[in-house]
Amino acid sequence: MMPLFSLNNVSLFYGKAPIVRDINITFAEKRVICIIGPSGSGKSTLLRTFNRMNDLTPSFECKGSVLFDGHDIYNNGTKVCQLRQHVGMVFQKPCIFPKSIYDNVLFGVRQLYRMKKIEHQQVVEETLKAVYLWDEVKDKLRSSALELSQGQQQRLTIARALAVKPRVILLDEPTSSLDHKSAGAIDALINNLKGEITVIMVTHKLDQARRIADDVVFMCDGMICEAGTSKHIFETPGKSETKCYIKGEEINVPIKGFVSSQVIRLKAEGY
Ligand SMILES: Nc1ncnc2c1ncn2[C@@H]1O[C@H](COP(=O)(O)OP(=O)(O)OP(=O)(O)O)[C@@H](O)[C@H]1O
Ligand SMILES: [Mg+2]
Repeated sequence: MMPLFSLNNVSLFYGKAPIVRDINITFAEKRVICIIGPSGSGKSTLLRTFNRMNDLTPSFECKGSVLFDGHDIYNNGTKVCQLRQHVGMVFQKPCIFPKSIYDNVLFGVRQLYRMKKIEHQQVVEETLKAVYLWDEVKDKLRSSALELSQGQQQRLTIARALAVKPRVILLDEPTSSLDHKSAGAIDALINNLKGEITVIMVTHKLDQARRIADDVVFMCDGMICEAGTSKHIFETPGKSETKCYIKGEEINVPIKGFVSSQVIRLKAEGY
């Protein structure tokens, strides 16, 4: 079976400095993958590579190949909007538009699909139920989303991302600044997405990764130190750095030599 994402000799740069180096990994479809690792290890930089969100930084460069469904998304022919339709993203802080709750959910849907009003209503109800927000907002769908709490706004952001039916959703520490109830709701909804879409999530919360991840990628010093099933990483890790990290101990990161990766560009088809 073809992997959903396949990264080959990937190194990521801001200017001349390689921030993430020599990444070789594949992700299967419809799994929940958690990326963990110390602060500054390159988790967000790697995550933003999956839908080219790093393009917003002019000095950013990706060497190597990032294949999505076999197509190199960094090829010049890639239609980034189309890519982001398939690979949605949710950030640490909720990104809410100054519109109603209803219009926030439908923001991407209206741009991508032609639908009748009744279908819009169905999408809004379905996705708000999926993110455990429906009961809290069903009587004020036309009120401004800015009036919601941060935890509610984050669930709304996820609803908006899910409403366009992506194949992958990228989450960068989505629950780090949320209350217990909202964080629990987001864990539950990610669990419900298992087997439906692929979730790639960066988290500092090891208990969260333990609870919801199928696979875990442990990053350290800009590289993947170890990756495997959640059971492997948390129960029988192979590397001493992984063992230290999951025990909450400090890691001594050796300064490793860096050999610049070969640049591979494959022809994009369809993106
Ligand atoms: N836009 C940027 N320009 C230059 N350097 C950057 C930029 N964004 C991140 N970096 C650097 O890249 C390195 C990795 O950052 P990144 O945000 O990917 O780490 P992280 O593992 O997500 O950390 P955290 O857990 O704190 O969020 C850091 O040294 C950071 O300073
Ligand atoms: Mg980060």
